[in-house]
Amino acid sequence: MSEVRIPFLDLHAATAELRQQLDQAWARVLDAGWYVGGGEVAAFEQEFAASIGAPFAVGVGNGLDAISLALQALGVAAGDEVIVPAHTFIATWLAVRMLGAIPVAAEPEAGRFNVSARTIEPLITPRTRAVIAVHLYGEPVEIEPVAELCSMHKLVLIEDAAQAHGSVRHRRTVGTLGDAAAFSLYPTKNLGALGDAGVLTIASESLREQLLRLRNYGSLHKYQHDIEGRNSRLDSLQAALLRVKLQALPQWNERRRRIAALYSEQLRGIDGLSLPQTLPGNEPVWHLYAIMTQRREALARFLAARGIETMRHYPQAVYRTPPFAAFGPPRITDSDRIAAEQLSLPIGPHLSAAQAGEVIGAVHEFFR
Ligand SMILES: Cc1ncc(COP(=O)(O)O)c(C=O)c1O
Repeated sequence: MSEVRIPFLDLHAATAELRQQLDQAWARVLDAGWYVGGGEVAAFEQEFAASIGAPFAVGVGNGLDAISLALQALGVAAGDEVIVPAHTFIATWLAVRMLGAIPVAAEPEAGRFNVSARTIEPLITPRTRAVIAVHLYGEPVEIEPVAELCSMHKLVLIEDAAQAHGSVRHRRTVGTLGDAAAFSLYPTKNLGALGDAGVLTIASESLREQLLRLRNYGSLHKYQHDIEGRNSRLDSLQAALLRVKLQALPQWNERRRRIAALYSEQLRGIDGLSLPQTLPGNEPVWHLYAIMTQRREALARFLAARGIETMRHYPQAVYRTPPFAAFGPPRITDSDRIAAEQLSLPIGPHLSAAQAGEVIGAVHEFFR
């Protein structure tokens, strides 16, 4: 294996660009002496909600908790069925299982990575309570027909927006398209903390209160426990650092869009290579740039030999993983095909156009 020359994502460069402001934020928290919740968290919640155009945001411990707290706050309970994409990160499914609910796998729409109303509708039964729409790789789900289905069948619609901070669908920002939205703020995300963190966006004041209780032992006031909650609070330090990174997010998303545009223009028309398609009305933030080829393994090795790091998102459909083996169909599905053929090229706000050019050159060389 050659030395990595073009990393998949350069987090050192991200920290270096904001180092001074991050140091100041860190010092502010040390001086304040308040380390969980508090003013930094409240300020981050307000600023994040404003950036999304959502009435409220609630900070939590991580993205997995954000999804399961959304389900819980919206009344999903043990035994309920929740429709989830087969092709997603395992956390979407684990959040459902955390409540004892049952994940029901929806396949991606033909030629796409995301689910659609067409793949969801046949799965609805009298036991279905919720649908989780994952805006995978930063590309928004075609949400309008899904929302219509949910409203017709009285289902809760939750967005898993872990990969889509700032993505837009028909001028509405992801995070405002369902009953609640869950964002991971894991360090590699478009908006990433310097540790684990998560946040939810919601439109209703009562839902906000319920989430504030659930994240803090069921309590809004010290030692007054109204419901069975958990501990999933956001650290003050992470909130302070996230406030700095939130300011950089629009510009960093724009840089990702430029890299994606370079890839899409200059990798077009290669035989045996499919490029990601964006739906009309979508302005994705390109958390990942996902290509498909039957020669995936050979291409990944070829790029690695040239110092270009790539990743597979994800090498198995969730229902092929041991904890969920009982949930999958025995036949090969579209999700299995994606798992076998998908490859993520390097992308991030600190990948230069020259580096993207090198990746493009190497991909052309491989297919020649
Ligand atoms: C689609 C998706 N959902 C949920 C999560 C879970 O987030 P976290 O790792 O912050 O728990 C992630 C990322 O890890 C993700 O990519």
